[in-house]
Amino acid sequence: MNKAMPSWHEEYAGGSEEAERQLIEGYVRDIRAIQERTAAKAGKSPDRTLHAKIIVGVRNARLVVDRDLPPDLAAGYFQPGAELATAIRLSNASPFHRGDTAADMRGAALRINTGDGGFHDLLMTSYPVSHARDAWQFIEVAKIATGPKPLVLPRFILKFGLSETLRILRNIKTGSQPIESLRTQQFWSRAPLLWGSAGPVRYALRPVAQPAGKQPDETDRNYLATEFANGAAAGDVLYKLSLQRYVDSETTPIENGAAEWRESDAPFVDVATLIIPAQDLGSTEAVRAKQAIDGLAFNPWNCPPQFRPLGGLNRARNRVYFASAAGWLGSPDSGARVNRTGSVRRANEHAEGSPFQNNR
Ligand code: HEM
Repeated sequence: MNKAMPSWHEEYAGGSEEAERQLIEGYVRDIRAIQERTAAKAGKSPDRTLHAKIIVGVRNARLVVDRDLPPDLAAGYFQPGAELATAIRLSNASPFHRGDTAADMRGAALRINTGDGGFHDLLMTSYPVSHARDAWQFIEVAKIATGPKPLVLPRFILKFGLSETLRILRNIKTGSQPIESLRTQQFWSRAPLLWGSAGPVRYALRPVAQPAGKQPDETDRNYLATEFANGAAAGDVLYKLSLQRYVDSETTPIENGAAEWRESDAPFVDVATLIIPAQDLGSTEAVRAKQAIDGLAFNPWNCPPQFRPLGGLNRARNRVYFASAAGWLGSPDSGARVNRTGSVRRANEHAEGSPFQNNR
């Protein structure tokens, strides 16, 4: 790639780094309040504020980087032919543990072993764009949606105005649908990150066609977990990891999570294959692995420096995820940000063993 990289920049909410930091501390308080309210409603101790129910958790996956990786997309640990041990948590987005056939968005969290004692977390959801343009909208929607039901619509309109409310509601409705299978589902990062010298990218996991597994019973509360297990019993589950390159601030904005990076403007480039090996997900070992994965606190800021998350939405996620995880881990929120892999690893000390052990 000899083409000059298009210029890009980030913007601080509130106009300065310090003003944004204060706004984010407010979001942290809001998310902890939502977490406690949800726990009280569910009659349980605090859980993840979002994506509470794990569907699939495996720690014996591999991410195999394509041998013909374009040279500018090779960065740090991500090199052609590299085979990277990877742990995966697939989830329903709801704060509650509902049946898998309910309308919901789904999440995919990968923890990639970077081979130097560190790791890189990639987080995605099953819809290409967020309902929220920025972190403020994300938190306000979460506050209102988890408050009293009859007040949701009037509070949305008061907060965002009618046309923005309609956009947000349309997005949430379209993004939250019952699905048949996670093995055939695409997941999008929705927010950009730096990818070494290639500059900003968004990423996605795109399913590779695979044989249909045995269909679970419609009444199965864990429908998606059963469907995935049936598929994994029959053969490897495969996805391509693909990147979209930044084009310009209009077509591929850094700061607007509600704007799609259209494939016609920013086509996907396949860069690696995620391989979840064929296995019995009902075995004792696999169930233990799933529990261990459910104990990991994922955070997009668990990353080598060449892969820094970009934009205000992502900067808010650093402290917000850390504080939410402190809530369900029962550890104090030290006010820390995650800048190095070490800090979240400490928070995970209770999780059993290494996330990257073989669970065959
Ligand atoms: C727009 C891109 C986003 C994506 C793709 C995304 C995706 C995800 C995923 C996959 C999880 C589950 C992680 C796991 O399995 O443990 C998660 C959790 C969570 N997300 Fe996001 N999210 C996004 C934006 C945000 C924003 C803007 C906020 C708030 C500022 C937020 C707040 C949370 C919280 C509080 C959790 C629970 C974390 C924990 O307790 O461990 N997310 N998200």
